[in-house]
This record gives sequence, C-alpha cells and structure tokens, in this order.
Amino acid sequence: MAGGLCFRDITALAPMVRVGTLPMRLLALDYGADIVYCEELIDIKMVQCERVVNEELDTVDFVAPDERVMFRTCERERDRVVFQMGTADPDRALAVARLVEKDVAAIDVNMGCPKEYSTKGGMGAALLSDPDKIEAILTKLVQGLTKPVTCKIRILPSIQDTVSLVRRIEKTGVAAIAVHGRMREERPKHPLHCDFIRAVSGAVDVPVIANGGSLDMVKSFEDVEVFRSATGASGVMLARAAMWNPSVFRRQGLLPVQQVMEDYLRYAVRYDNHAFNTKYCLCQMLRDKVESVMGKRVQTAQTLADICAAYGMQAFYEEVQLLLLSRRERRPPETPITQGGVTTMALRFHRREYPPEITPKMFLLEWSRKEKLEQPHYHTVDRPQDRLFQSTVTVDNKQYRSTLWEKSKKGAEQAAAVVCLRVLHLPEGRLGEEDSGLVGKRKRAAATLLNGSTAAAAAAPQEEQEEEQEANKKIHLSDREAETEVTTGNHHKPHTP
Ligand SMILES: Cc1cc2nc3c(=O)[nH]c(=O)nc-3n(C[C@H](O)[C@H](O)[C@H](O)COP(=O)(O)O)c2cc1C
Repeated sequence: MAGGLCFRDITALAPMVRVGTLPMRLLALDYGADIVYCEELIDIKMVQCERVVNEELDTVDFVAPDERVMFRTCERERDRVVFQMGTADPDRALAVARLVEKDVAAIDVNMGCPKEYSTKGGMGAALLSDPDKIEAILTKLVQGLTKPVTCKIRILPSIQDTVSLVRRIEKTGVAAIAVHGRMREERPKHPLHCDFIRAVSGAVDVPVIANGGSLDMVKSFEDVEVFRSATGASGVMLARAAMWNPSVFRRQGLLPVQQVMEDYLRYAVRYDNHAFNTKYCLCQMLRDKVESVMGKRVQTAQTLADICAAYGMQAFYEEVQLLLLSRRERRPPETPITQGGVTTMALRFHRREYPPEITPKMFLLEWSRKEKLEQPHYHTVDRPQDRLFQSTVTVDNKQYRSTLWEKSKKGAEQAAAVVCLRVLHLPEGRLGEEDSGLVGKRKRAAATLLNGSTAAAAAAPQEEQEEEQEANKKIHLSDREAETEVTTGNHHKPHTP
C-alpha cells in the first residue's frame, strides 16, 4: 500500500486541460489549495516523452519527440501535484506512471471526460461502462507504483450503480476517488446531484472528493465547507471557480482578479509558460472583461513580453530574462561533436535572447565578410511527420548544424548559425554580450531605440513572427479541445485558439 499524500479534509485544484499547467498549480498552492491536479495528459503522448532536468528554469520537463514540453513540474509542488492521465490500457498507464512517479505526489486516472476524442479511444467516461477495464488499470497501477493512485469519475444513472462501481474501485486499493456529481450526458449547467456524492461518501472508507459545485455552490472559500457538508465528502475539488479566480482557495477571502492575474503572470514568466496557454488562462479570469481594451490587448499578444506589457509588467519581464540568461551562462558550455564533416551541438535559437534587429545569422554574415569568406550557405530540410526544420550552414567549407529541430525554417537557420558562432568562439550579438563592433552601429542604434520589454518580440521580423504564429496554430490544432465544460459552461468563451 502506497504512503504519502493524504486525501482527507483537503481542497484540490481540479484537473483542467490547458488551465492546469504549472503557473496555475503554483498559484493555487500559494492561495491555499492542499492538492493540485495537472491537466489530463494522454498516455500515448506521454509514453514517448523524455524526462529532462531543466537547470535554467529549475524544473523537470517531460518533452515529446517534437520538443514540446508536455508536462513541466518543479520542487515546490512535488509533494502536492497529482498527475492525471487519460488511458484505456493498463500496461501503457503503468509505463507513463513510472516515467513521472518520482516527480509527482500521486497518479490519477480520468474516468469522467465525456468528449468524443477521449471516449472513442475507450478512455475517460467510456471507462465507466467497462468496470473490468477500470479494475485492470487501477490494480496494475496500485501494484506497480510506490505513490498513491486515485481516479476521477462521473456518476452513473442510478445511485445504486454508482455506489457499486465505487465499492469495486475501492477494492483496487486507490487512495481517493473524486466524484463529479453529474452523469456522462449532463453538461456543467445541469444541476449537481449532491445526493449521489453523499451516498457514495457514506458507502466507502476511501476518501471521496466532491466535485461539480463551482457554478451554483462555491463562490469563495467559505462556500467550500457548505459544499463539503452537503455531499458528506472528505474533500472538495474545484475546477471552474478556481479557473475564474484561483484565490477561491484563500481562507481570508477572494482577492481582486487584477491582482490574481498579475500573480499568475509572474509565475508564467518565471517558468517560461507558453504564451498562448498563458493568454488562455488570463482570458478565463477576465471573463466578461475579455472584450475590454485590456482584454483585447491580452488577446492580440503573441509573446509573454507582449502580455506583460498589457499588464504594465515590462520591468518584471526583463528582470526574469536577465536572471535566466545569467543562469544559462553559468552552465558548462555544450560540447560540439564532429561526425561526417558536420559539427553539431544541441542548441536552440531563442529570439528573446537577442536585441531587436540583431540575429546570429547577421553576425555570421558580417564575420564572413570581414574574413573575406564566401557568404554562409544554409541548407534546410523539413521532417514531414511533425513539420519541424533543421538547417546546416556551410562556412569556410565546414558544416555546422543544431541537433534540435525548430518550428520554422528561419529558426532552424538561426540555430545553425548559433552553432557555428559558438564553435568558432565568435560574438553572436546576444543581450548582455560585450559589443564586438561586428554588426554596424546603425543596426544596434535602431535596436536600442526600440528598448522596453516588448522590444525583442516587436522587433522580430514580421516574417518570423508570422512563422511563429503559424507554428503555434499547428500546436493548438493538434491540441485536444478542453472538456465540454470549457465550451458549454456558463461563462464567457475566450477568443483564444
Ligand atoms: C477548462 C476545463 C478543462 C477540464 N479538463 C479536465 C481534465 O483534464 N480532466 C478532468 O478529469 N476533468 C476536466 N474538466 C472537468 C473538471 O475537472 C470538473 O470535473 C468540472 O468542471 C466540474 O467541476 P466544477 O463545477 O468545479 O467546474 C475540465 C473542466 C474545465 C472547465
């Protein structure tokens, strides 16, 4: 039997696709949540991920083959975060759980998602009609892990059937069961069946966590106890109430949303959260103000720097960038490897590391001119399965390439240029680098004029920004839509992808 996290008398941030990423989880913990669930992550995608210690951010990242960070976590939440997965396969579930086990406090299986993408693969709410499968998955996890295993279900059409299912689940040895008091076909606006949750809570010894009360029962922390006692549950799990204002977990009462959004943004910047994900969460907090002047600025922002500018937090953004840069520079340099005449390093081109108008390609070109060499020649290939790019640059008859694939052709060329400049120990124009005088004063002057936190983003050549947007679109098209709750809820649907 696994020890660790206690699920009695707790408040929890519910699993929420897109919303439950690292900044939101840390904020919920700061405000007083005892346990935080991550967004549901699908086993097929997670099983391909590699665990990477990110020394710059001080995080552990689970990175997909296309370099996307699927799950980012950190020490602060290690004893409080529950990793939720979507699965219909006991072996794959165990493989994923083992991959993340030492970085999280517990593993949860989602058995409540009613969306077709989930149910047609036999996952989510489809599991509710296959109790043998539920038993097989949970037993495998409980027996194969040292951390607690939990699950989150919806209720069945009758109290009796729901109680029987929960009793069967309890026998697998799970540490808690979260019960969303709605049936599979019911939408978030439908009334909650507190009586079902109460019956289940009374029928089993394992802690039951009540869920589904955001719309009509829980507006602030004092309502949490009302909801708990109405359901007789051990704990309470909040989704939408926390998504709209995570300070709902604060015993002292709600904070103004503006302050909460700023607190959220600080974490988003600190942990380099994806700009589109950050926007999405902020738009949920803005709710009916999403069409205000401020809301529109957030919606049109393309980078974290833009978002910070909308909140007047440029200084904070720059401070964090400098801190991250100094951490990066303290790291031992990457070692180049030469094979088959090509020198490679695992380096990425980060636009934000360079002043506006300045790029490594530009530095390489200027240096080649100065040395009277032929202009650098870039040869770029794309990988059809994930539409990523890799470029090889030829300089002075030698070839250089980054082993990391980029989302755009331009990004791949810049990365190749960075490799070449690093190998040759040449200046590349990064922020904080001593002025080498390699690139003309005119360009640099233009760059300084554009100072301010939005500078790097604003100055990214139009073409590059468009490519970045295109790449982001690609990412979000492949993202699963959030559960039905997101789009059919009683709140404003943000105009974000
Ligand atoms: C944006 C959003 C995303 C969600 N994603 C998940 C998810 O990944 N896994 C899950 O089990 N439930 C998910 N849900 C459902 C919630 O966890 C919760 O069961 C539901 O919203 C009812 O709780 P509430 O009344 O507190 O909102 C999601 C809900 C929302 C609003």
